[in-house]
Amino acid sequence: MKTAITLILAAIAAGMTGCSREPSTANSAPAANIAPLLTGEDAKDVHSYADPLTARVTHVDLDLTADFAAHTMQGTATLDVLSSAADPKLTLDTRDLAIQTVRDDQGHDLTFELAPADPLLGAALRITLKDARRVQVRYRTSPDAAALQWLSPAQTAGKQQPYLFSQGEAILTRSWVPTQDSPGIRQTWSATIRAPEALTVVMSGERIAEPKQLPGGQREWRYRMEHPVASYLIAIAIGDLGFQSLGARTGVYTEPSRLAAAANELVDVEKMVAAAESLYGSYRWGRYDLLVLPPSFPFGGMENPRLTFATPTIIAGDRSLVSLVAHELAHSWSGNLVTNATWADFWLNEGFTDYFENRIMERVYGAPTAAMLADLSWDDLQDTIKDLGPEKIGDTRLHLDLAGRDPDDGMTDIAYVKGATFLRTIESTVGRERWDAYLRDYFDRHAFQPQTSAGFLKDLREHLVKADAALEAKLDLDAWVYGTGLPANAVHVRSAALEQIDQRAAAFTREGIRAAEAKDWNTSQRVRFLNRLPRKLTGSQLAQVAAAMDLDVQRNSEVRFAWLHLAVANRYAPAVPNLEDFLNSMGRRKFVLPLFKDLMAQGPWGKSLATRIYASARPGYHSVTVGSVDKVVPLAAKGQ
Ligand code: BES
Ligand code: ZN
Repeated sequence: MKTAITLILAAIAAGMTGCSREPSTANSAPAANIAPLLTGEDAKDVHSYADPLTARVTHVDLDLTADFAAHTMQGTATLDVLSSAADPKLTLDTRDLAIQTVRDDQGHDLTFELAPADPLLGAALRITLKDARRVQVRYRTSPDAAALQWLSPAQTAGKQQPYLFSQGEAILTRSWVPTQDSPGIRQTWSATIRAPEALTVVMSGERIAEPKQLPGGQREWRYRMEHPVASYLIAIAIGDLGFQSLGARTGVYTEPSRLAAAANELVDVEKMVAAAESLYGSYRWGRYDLLVLPPSFPFGGMENPRLTFATPTIIAGDRSLVSLVAHELAHSWSGNLVTNATWADFWLNEGFTDYFENRIMERVYGAPTAAMLADLSWDDLQDTIKDLGPEKIGDTRLHLDLAGRDPDDGMTDIAYVKGATFLRTIESTVGRERWDAYLRDYFDRHAFQPQTSAGFLKDLREHLVKADAALEAKLDLDAWVYGTGLPANAVHVRSAALEQIDQRAAAFTREGIRAAEAKDWNTSQRVRFLNRLPRKLTGSQLAQVAAAMDLDVQRNSEVRFAWLHLAVANRYAPAVPNLEDFLNSMGRRKFVLPLFKDLMAQGPWGKSLATRIYASARPGYHSVTVGSVDKVVPLAAKGQ
């Protein structure tokens, strides 16, 4: 529980604009761009070595060359530092970086020490600053840098050029940028990147110059982010990329052969931005572009500012999976403007975003569509609570204790769906109009600042509940944030279109299913039907489902996943080629990890399949996916 002192300290720090408590020096970034820090116990980040109250990074300037032969980035990070201490030590996060020199802005060497590495957190880099307030670190990334995936031409659609992309969240940025890698510490950044001339460099910032041709077949690209952002939002991708505009301030990058399909899928993006703005205030980042990545991208989407990274598995051909875009776009407010101060409050990013995503979907596609999506998520939440069971009941809290754990452990439907359900419950308790006004105001008041669970509850009480004891009792705020399970007042949005499907699934054993009725079902209905069928089915029943729903050729990733999940649970051999193809053709962890878990739960039949498939698929997966699947599939061929 938070003490009053902590809350007061957090409030003071949150109210600070700029650096009033931390005098700036000549070399520091302008005070206007320095975001406040939270100083309460609840804002202490156990996943970073940084000690920002002693010395903090306010700006990162990267100067890096991408070496596609060596799989490294080599160059410098020049950091602006703010500190009022005499002779402070600057502590940075690093992971697998080869640190070559550390110098002040006169080029004089500074004393530094690289601490022993922790496998998860990496190694603290401690620099004795003396009176330096600008520090240049010369370094090289490891070919195995966790944030970076270097793809061979064969792993791309075009097959001609290599590709590189980064994934910073949660604590991977430190494997390619030596900085204070904590979501509570915001920094502006700029970058000069050199890459082979055939390739395009894109970053999660603004391109500030046309690419410059250099001798030796290289081009140089310049980007910057003028708003202070959390380090996990610094992102880069380099590849053979085309661009197509989608609207006045929206567009899509992807490999040229995939561009038309991607642009067609994403036609509504400009509308989504307008819908989001009409809900919660102006979009503050300038452009909103997407990058559709090669299939090994380990997530569905990643909300890198100005440039959402997305899996190609959302390009379904029928625009049925674009809620993912609504989600990543919503992060431009929840997450990128107002950011979880630590990963223990990850739900402040994802729960708010899941809620906001659904509101965007409602605006653009109507209430029945949004209700289907919310109702499907409700099912996922119930499954998650059941799976966590009494043993891991602590992980059903929104505010988590992640000390000594991988922040990935918090990436469950608790953060996403319990979080969203909490906000939906507040909405339905106080009424949509009052809630929307509060939320719009909340994003404004906390823009470009970190936030904690305690800070949010305090703000809610101050600006919405306003000492209304009856309302306070009705909402049960502390039970939602600090309690386990799902509070009794939780609002469940029911979809009529899915309830129809539930009836068909319940009648399946008696009545079967015909192609004529399944052919009109949309993606949500198909997923619901597959998930609501009895878990144990015979081979001929599964064959009937597959035939009625065309599941052997179905390429919609969500439907395909739901089908394979059911098929594996029944050791249904005819689906194995499909399963093998799916697991070898993309590396999205949300699909890959559960399917390998499913296989491992199916005795020798499943285990041998899992081992065989993983041996061939693993080299193509990103470190994030490999890290998770390695814990599940014992791999004889590991290390290949
Ligand atoms: N920010 C997350 C992705 C993430 C979370 C990366 C934690 C690393 C650590 C992103 O916004 C997200 O939630 N992606 C989802 C898609 C979404 C529609 C639920 C995903 O990747 O599945
Ligand atoms: Zn998200």
